[in-house]
Amino acid sequence: MTTKQWDAGHYNDQFAFIWEYGSRVLDLLQPVNGERILDLGCGTGHLTADIAGTGATVIGIDHSADMIDAAKSSYPAIEFHQLDATDFQFDEPFDAIFSNAVLHWVRSPKVAIQRIHAALKPGGRFVAEFGGHGNVGAVVQALIAELERHGYTDAADRNPWFFPSIATYTALLEAHGLEPVMARLYDRPTLLDGGETGLASWLTMFGDSFLHDVPTDVRDTIVNNVAEQLRPSLFRDGNWYADYRRLQVVAHRV
Ligand code: BEZ
Repeated sequence: MTTKQWDAGHYNDQFAFIWEYGSRVLDLLQPVNGERILDLGCGTGHLTADIAGTGATVIGIDHSADMIDAAKSSYPAIEFHQLDATDFQFDEPFDAIFSNAVLHWVRSPKVAIQRIHAALKPGGRFVAEFGGHGNVGAVVQALIAELERHGYTDAADRNPWFFPSIATYTALLEAHGLEPVMARLYDRPTLLDGGETGLASWLTMFGDSFLHDVPTDVRDTIVNNVAEQLRPSLFRDGNWYADYRRLQVVAHRV
C-alpha cells in the first residue's frame, strides 16, 4: 500500500500510534464471531490480530514485504499476503473489509474501490479510516515551501498522498456500487514519538517522496527549517503534534 518499503522494526517502535488509534476504528467495524474479514493494509498485523481475537476469520494484506514478514512472525496463526490495494482478489468473498491509515497512499482510489467491491459479499461492509482533506496540511505546505526555496520547483508534484473530502470519496464509493452509510472528517492532532526529534523522524519515515534525491546536508537544513516554521503551531510541552485530519467511512456493497 505504501510507496516505499518501510522498515517494520522502526514502524513498530516509533509509530505505534497508528494501530493504537486504529483500535477506535475497530469499534466501527464491530467484527462478529465467524465472520470473514479482510484487513487491507495490515502493516505489522496488530489490528489484524485484534480482529482475529473476536472469533472472526481474518486475512491481512499489505504492499510491503517487510511488514508482511513482521506480521507473519508476530502472528503465525493468521493468514497474511503481500498484495497491493489495487491488485488483490480472493476466491471466497468477505463479510467486511477493514482498512486503517492506508488508503491515503493509494493513488488509484477508483481501482482500489473496484477491488473492494469485488471482494465483498452483497450487503458486506467496508469500514475505513485514513487521511482526509487537509490532513497534515501545515506540514505539507511548509515542506513544499522549503523545497521550492532550495530550487526544487517540482516540490508540489512530489506529494504522494490522496487526502479526499467526504464529497469526493463518497461519490467514488457510490459510483462503484458501495453505498456510504457514514462519513466523518475530523481533526486529530497526533502526538509524534521522540520529543524534540519527533517531526524529523516522521519526515524521515514518511517524507521520502519529497526528499529522496535531496543531498543529506540540504535535507537536514530543509527538515530543520520546516521544524522552525511549524514550532509555534505544532510543538508544545516538549512534543510535536502533527495536524492529522481523518476521514472515516462505512459503506455497504449494494
Ligand atoms: C496519515 O496517517 O495520515 C499519514 C501517515 C503518513 C503520511 C501521511 C499521512
